[in-house]
Amino acid sequence: MQILGIDVGGTGIKGAIVETSTGELVSERLRIETLRPATPESIGMAVKKLVEQHQWSGPVGIGFPAAIQHGIARTAANIDPAFIGLPVADYFSRQTGNLAYVANDADVAGLAEMRFGAGKEVAGVALIVTIGTGLGTALFSGGHLLPNTELGHLILDNGLEAERYASDAVRVAKQLKWKDWGDRLNHYLITLENLFWPDLIVIGGGASKKLSKFASRITTQTPVVPAGFLNQAGIVGAALFAEEQLDH
Ligand code: BGC
Repeated sequence: MQILGIDVGGTGIKGAIVETSTGELVSERLRIETLRPATPESIGMAVKKLVEQHQWSGPVGIGFPAAIQHGIARTAANIDPAFIGLPVADYFSRQTGNLAYVANDADVAGLAEMRFGAGKEVAGVALIVTIGTGLGTALFSGGHLLPNTELGHLILDNGLEAERYASDAVRVAKQLKWKDWGDRLNHYLITLENLFWPDLIVIGGGASKKLSKFASRITTQTPVVPAGFLNQAGIVGAALFAEEQLDH
């Protein structure tokens, strides 16, 4: 089946039509800059525009950068606080005139990786860490997702919130070299490893394309690999999530 997958990020909103049986993008991938502040109005308009640009009519899957409980946004770390408590699935359905299904962006990226990407052979525990404006996490055991883990907000033993220490936004803001930033990410990944003992760590988001630049700094026992879909895992997974919901 084909579904429009949309990944709402801190700097851009990306979308493409996805063939859910293979995870392939079957349309051009379009991107709209995220307007600041990222309010329900501005993100709603951007999502509507993406749907129109794809001339899409049908279900829409959306990966969204917040904890999403049954279609309602519960947090707003890098978006306008007006999102907290908003029934985002209903809101985007109304904005686009299509049925929209919304889940956390890292969770949906994880769905894509577990089904078709780097995690597909993992029978045990897999941890997906998406690195962009924020730090997102998805935790799977035996292929099952524990949603909304929000481990980007973990406080590290240096007293700092992981997202304020090792996100890509911090690397850019502090003009860190990839290797120096890699030491920070390593600190974070080792903290997660000691808490969850995953069998595999998958890196998603923009930084997944640059793993070779900081891989030498990663000293976890757990293998760390880039997402099979790289930065497109969110788009693919959003479509897979919508399909899952349609089946219910
Ligand atoms: C949000 C998460 C999101 C992550 C990546 C964090 O700030 O709290 O919900 O998954 O950023 O976008």
